[in-house]
Amino acid sequence: MVLKVFRWSPGSRERLQKYWVKALQGMTVLDALVELQRNSDATLAFRYACRVGMCGSCAMVVNGRERWACRTLLSNLDRGPVTVRPLYQFPLIRDLVVDMAPIKNKMLEMKAVFVPGRRAMDGDGFALIGSRTRERRAIDAAIECIGCGMCVSACTMVSHDPRFPGPAALNRVFTLQRDSRDGAHADRSQAVLAEDVLTRCHGQANCTAVCPMEISPTDSILALRRRAVLRLFGIGPR
Ligand code: SF4
Ligand code: FES
Repeated sequence: MVLKVFRWSPGSRERLQKYWVKALQGMTVLDALVELQRNSDATLAFRYACRVGMCGSCAMVVNGRERWACRTLLSNLDRGPVTVRPLYQFPLIRDLVVDMAPIKNKMLEMKAVFVPGRRAMDGDGFALIGSRTRERRAIDAAIECIGCGMCVSACTMVSHDPRFPGPAALNRVFTLQRDSRDGAHADRSQAVLAEDVLTRCHGQANCTAVCPMEISPTDSILALRRRAVLRLFGIGPR
């Protein structure tokens, strides 16, 4: 099978480099890249850690769609050539490796950081929220975010408006705004009411379509919007 792999390093021009790999049964895109790096081209740069679909560090764009390289079987792709390129919307470091700092920076801008509030502690220590409670069920899916960046890469609004925080940061805001132990709801509410935040999402759900954890950042953003509208009418939670 032919792989066309995105290559770039500082000072060079972007290009797609063609490689031939023998697609063995059960081989993933990540296996193919490791094989190429070991046997054909030691200069090829990419990132991975767990190799079993847990950490998100192997996120890349394969045949035009954001995917986990370690969970994408070559046999599930077209006969080839298979194109492999780095995530969109992130600064390039080299080849398939991008700088993930924008996710963290957008979370900081949106104050998407847990701040212990009055209900953070109970008599026995840190307050727990029961797994069957309504509060927990409301955010159950959304808290599984592994920060892989696929949703950000797929978001057309992120590419259009650099001030838009993006689906990952807003999903995190949603989980914190629904956490009764957090003490920064009011500050965060102010942050999401800024121009270029909630109103910028057009609900295309590209983020939801590619999220490997089956999270719907679109739903998180819509839930934040509902809360913001209720708050504006003075009838909703902060
Ligand atoms: S919401 Fe999904 S796609 Fe986005 S960073 Fe989290 S796990 Fe990755
Ligand atoms: S290497 Fe961890 S998810 Fe692919």
